[in-house]
Amino acid sequence: MALKAINPTQTAAWQKLQAHFELMKGQHMQALFAQDAERAQKMHIEWQDFLLDYSKNIATEQTLNLLQELASEVDLKSAIEQYFAGELINQTENRAVLHTALRSEQTEPILVDGQDIMPEIVAVKAKMREFAQSIISGAHKGYTGKAIQTVVNIGIGGSDLGPAMLNEALKFYKNHLSVHFISNIDGDHVLELLKTLDPETTLFVIVSKTFTTQETLTNAQTIRSWFLQHATEPEVAKHFVAVSTNLQKVQEFGIASENIFPMWDWVGGRFSLWSAVGLSICLAVGPDHFEALLQGANQMDQHFKNTPFEQNMPVVMALLSIWYNNFYGAETEAMIPYNQYLQKLVPYLQQGIMESNGKRVGRDGQAVNYQTGTIVWGEPGTNAQHAFFQLIHQGTKLIPTDFIGFKKPLYGNKEHHDKLMSNFFAQTEALLMGRPEAPGLSPFKVFTGNKPTNTLLIEKLTPSSVGALIALYEHKLFVQGIIWNIYSYDQWGVELGKVLANGILKDIQTKELAPHDASTTFLLKKYLG
Ligand code: F6P
Repeated sequence: MALKAINPTQTAAWQKLQAHFELMKGQHMQALFAQDAERAQKMHIEWQDFLLDYSKNIATEQTLNLLQELASEVDLKSAIEQYFAGELINQTENRAVLHTALRSEQTEPILVDGQDIMPEIVAVKAKMREFAQSIISGAHKGYTGKAIQTVVNIGIGGSDLGPAMLNEALKFYKNHLSVHFISNIDGDHVLELLKTLDPETTLFVIVSKTFTTQETLTNAQTIRSWFLQHATEPEVAKHFVAVSTNLQKVQEFGIASENIFPMWDWVGGRFSLWSAVGLSICLAVGPDHFEALLQGANQMDQHFKNTPFEQNMPVVMALLSIWYNNFYGAETEAMIPYNQYLQKLVPYLQQGIMESNGKRVGRDGQAVNYQTGTIVWGEPGTNAQHAFFQLIHQGTKLIPTDFIGFKKPLYGNKEHHDKLMSNFFAQTEALLMGRPEAPGLSPFKVFTGNKPTNTLLIEKLTPSSVGALIALYEHKLFVQGIIWNIYSYDQWGVELGKVLANGILKDIQTKELAPHDASTTFLLKKYLG
């Protein structure tokens, strides 16, 4: 069954929210806290080792009730069921959206086109485990008989960002293998890395769902040619493996079928780190930690699927985000992990969130007449405090911000951790309370406060908690896409530029310019000298 197409602005809840917003827009959170001493007790969710405190939002119980009414009116509940059941909710590509199946522990079948996909998932996981063990143990030898020491992931977008993010996030759990990522088609990026590599001890993992991506194929060809300057064609098999849905194209590239790790078109690139796309992570942290990552995500899936909206973390976070985006007119949201291991979390989530919900046409095929998509950005704290926090505190824009922190440091350095976390708490307090005007206080030192934040306090950074954290944001964006009445799982918006780049490449190579707009023609002439 297709997802329902309900324009959210036509719902009764939206009208009520609009009226409610008129009352709320002049409200200061300080007053809301003053009115209700129990506010933090009421406006938080505890789930496993996660705590979400959402009391520092410009929202009351009534706001949340109305937002939940909106979720009910657009039939979020059925949409969640359709998502997990493998219905073709990526309708514009006629595909299911089943990254959740990759981490599912259920024994009942999950059907796609009448076929149970669980046995294939189990088989690929077993293949990943076996391969990872042979590389980590040194049983797998390179072409001169040496064990593999270095892994290079060649991929871009969803075939790079997830593994690259996790390689940082799970550094504490890593083994001896050093892992690198080549994504950009910028040859200087490739050649800089090649300078440092030893072909005898390096494994290349080519990751491309389609195996047609210009960047990945060009980079893979360059690296293969470099490898063949040192070794022979039959030795490629010991050093190159691929992850793709396009088995034929991988074989044409020269990778033997036993070295291919399949994935499926019901996994979106930006949600694919749970599949064999995560092979470099499975290698870096070992299969047990990789499995724990999947289990953590699966637990968040169960929470999302089975918890009433008012206690449901992804739902509450999505609804608050809609509140600011669609009623307050907030242009962006920030995300600040107080954890250096999570330095790549935001770039990773930018693809998930912005490629998914950057859509202007509703599920009814009509241009929407309201804002969709959230622009998300951020950097780890406390670095971010010394960079752009000024604008969040005293700028003219409303920037709802998620603060993500952990109770325990991994190496147990209490002095550092207490300092880190005191900043974490101080910032949300300052954003809430501000510093009011006072006699003798310079106007430049006044902070209005009333800047909304969510605080996610997690026990400890582990493969499992990172898995749950990523799944939390995956489901948040799903809920938002449902409410905005858009298709979150296609990405047609990235196609046009790719097509034009192919034409321009031909112009550059032949030095004969096809017709372009005047600016592009001018620039190409300058480039060609
Ligand atoms: O250009 C965007 C995109 O299609 C992403 O959605 C995807 O993650 C990336 O390119 C890489 O695609 P592939 O894995 O097919 O090489």
